Amino acid sequence: MQILKTIDAIRQVRWAELSLSWGLVPTMGFLHAGHLSLVERACQENDRVGVSIFVNPTQFNDAQDLEVYPRDMDRDLALLKEAGADLVWTPEPETVYPSGYQSYVEVEEVTTLLEGAARPGHFRGVTTVVAKLFNVFQPNRAYFGQKDAQQVAVIKQMVRDLNFNLDIVVCPIARDHDGLALSSRNSNLSPIAREQATCLYRALNAAQSAFAQGERQAESLRFIMIDLIASTPLARLDYVSVADPISLVELEEITDHALLSMAVFVDNTRLIDNVIIGE
Ligand code: PAJ
Repeated sequence: MQILKTIDAIRQVRWAELSLSWGLVPTMGFLHAGHLSLVERACQENDRVGVSIFVNPTQFNDAQDLEVYPRDMDRDLALLKEAGADLVWTPEPETVYPSGYQSYVEVEEVTTLLEGAARPGHFRGVTTVVAKLFNVFQPNRAYFGQKDAQQVAVIKQMVRDLNFNLDIVVCPIARDHDGLALSSRNSNLSPIAREQATCLYRALNAAQSAFAQGERQAESLRFIMIDLIASTPLARLDYVSVADPISLVELEEITDHALLSMAVFVDNTRLIDNVIIGE
């Protein structure tokens, strides 16, 4: 596995054998089984797999959040080697954003809702760095987790709008034994908060069961989820949503499918989770 820092070095490896297909897995490091499931899928579907580890400063709207973002490069590299990655890009911030940097990619409507409303500027940073990663690696396929459902919707929109020539592959949410979606933020939970953090998964399941039993009013599903979060002592709801999975516009009635999603503070840790129903 090659570990490279410069853009030129990545390009040299990328174009050394023109006929090989490349898969790219963008990450911010501190890898867990969710990230590794993307790498494993990419290994199955491509001749070569590149992974980026870059804690992207432009997508953090809170400087404190950026500072405390967990990092463990040695462990990440060992995990990636074991998972079968061929190439890892670990650029310095100055390589990605050299002094005088002034270009950004901005996707409009779909970034204004949900996570975009809660974290202004976040998606502008995500789309900018992902566009740069696509330009540097020029992968045939790029792998993203359904865990960040809005990120998937935003990146797909960007790829359509800007004619990036690659396939976006969306991988299912990897969960812990009790249903909690894996996230680097889970390591901030105290034991009691960790226990109560399953409320997101339980709320999504309760709404999904109501849908399976015939409930089609989006507002009823929102109330089911809100009630379950409200009955969890350490949980405070940020938002709950029943929306169209592509536009993310809130629905009144579910005619075919819907994205159920939520953000919840458990103690002081903000967690997100989602499920698509009606597929
Ligand atoms: P990061 O949070 O490190 O996540 C990297 C990828 O792993 C994302 O596509 C994310 O959706 C996926 N992922 C995280 N937890 C997962 C889980 N439990 N199951 C499945 N996939 C999971 O998302 C980012 O980094 C950044 O915004 C990035 C795209 C790298 C741009 O900086």
